[in-house]
Amino acid sequence: MAAGWNKLDGAKALVDSGIDRQFLCQAPRSEALSSRSGAPRRRNPGDRCLPAAGFQAYFIRSQQGGRNRRAAGCEREMGLLPVINHGIGSDLTRRMLAVAHEFFQLPLAEKMVSYSTDIDAAVRYGTSFNPLKEVFLDWQDNLLHRFLPERQDQPHPWPTKPSSYELIAGEFVDQAKFLARHLLRALSEGLGLGPDYLEGEFGEHNVALRLNYYPPCPSPELAIGLSSHSDVGGLTILLQDSDIVGLQVKVQEKWKTVRSVPGALVINIGDQLQIYSNGKLKSVEHRAIVNADKARVSVGLFYDPASDVRVSPIPKFVDTEHPAAYNPCVFRDYLKNLYSKNLVGKELLESQRK
Ligand code: OGA
Ligand code: NI
Repeated sequence: MAAGWNKLDGAKALVDSGIDRQFLCQAPRSEALSSRSGAPRRRNPGDRCLPAAGFQAYFIRSQQGGRNRRAAGCEREMGLLPVINHGIGSDLTRRMLAVAHEFFQLPLAEKMVSYSTDIDAAVRYGTSFNPLKEVFLDWQDNLLHRFLPERQDQPHPWPTKPSSYELIAGEFVDQAKFLARHLLRALSEGLGLGPDYLEGEFGEHNVALRLNYYPPCPSPELAIGLSSHSDVGGLTILLQDSDIVGLQVKVQEKWKTVRSVPGALVINIGDQLQIYSNGKLKSVEHRAIVNADKARVSVGLFYDPASDVRVSPIPKFVDTEHPAAYNPCVFRDYLKNLYSKNLVGKELLESQRK
C-alpha cells in the first residue's frame, strides 16, 4: 500500500502518493471485473442527446412510455435523459466544472476541513460513498453541499476555497433549482396530477450539490468510479465534464455509456419519485467508470423531498389492480438507511417494497 496513505484520504491522495499497480489489484470491485469489457466504446445505441426544443414534453412522454419515438427510445434504452437547451448558459456550466476541478486540486488538509460523518452537515467532503462501511472504495472523492432548508439563525457555511466557489456554485444551484422545479411541475402534470402536486408533496424540499472527482486510474478495468446505485431522492440534474465519458446506465442488465456533450445535462429520476408514483416512474440504476488518462469531474444537483416528509404511493396510483407497492418511509430515515449500509444498485428501494 502507498506509504502514509490512509483510506479516508481518498482516491486523489492515493494517486498523488505514488500508487503502484499491486495495490490496485487488491481493491477491484467484483462488479467492475464482471460487467466491464475494457474501455468504453466510443459510440453505442444509448449514446444520444435529445434535440434542443421541447425537452419537457419528451421527458414526460418518455417516462410514461408515450409515443414520441425518440424519447421513448431513449427512455427504453437509457432510462435517463440527456438534455441540451436547458436554459443554463454554457459559460456557467463551464465555470462550474472548472471550479469543481479547482476544489479537488486544493491541498488535502484544506479539503479535510470539511470531512464529516454527520449526514446533517451542510458541507461534507469525503471519498467513495460510505468509506467506513465499504470493503472496496470507489475511485473518487466528493464534496456534498446541502442548501435547503436554510437555517435562519446562521449564515450559510460556504466553503471559502476556491474563492470563486460561492459565486459560481451559488449561481449554478439557483439555475439548476429553477430547472428542477420546472421539470417537477411538468412531470406532475404528465402524471395527471396538478402541476404543483409533487412540489407540494416534497414540502420544504432538500437541495444538495455533489461534486464528484475521479482521478486518472492506472488500471481502470480494475476499479469503479462510483458504484452502481439509483439516486435516492426526487430529481437529479447531472453536469458532466465535457468529452470525458464516465457515466453508465444499466439497461436490460447491460451497462451503457452515456455520451458527454459539452454543456448538456443528464436528468434522472430518484427512488422517492418511484415510490410516490407507485412504480409508474422508475429510478435509474447507474454508475461511473474511470479512465487512465484524465481526471474527470461531475456535478449533481439533487432536488429531493424535505427530510421530515413521509413518502408513500400517491392515492391516485393505488387501486385494487395496483396495490401500494412500497411501505411509507420518512425521507430522513431512508437516507439514514442509505448511510448505514454498503448498498448495491437499487437494493434500498427494493427493501421498501411491501
Ligand atoms: C451521482 C452520480 C455520476 C457521475 O453523483 O449520484 O451518479 O457520472 N454521478 O459522476
Ligand atoms: Ni447518481
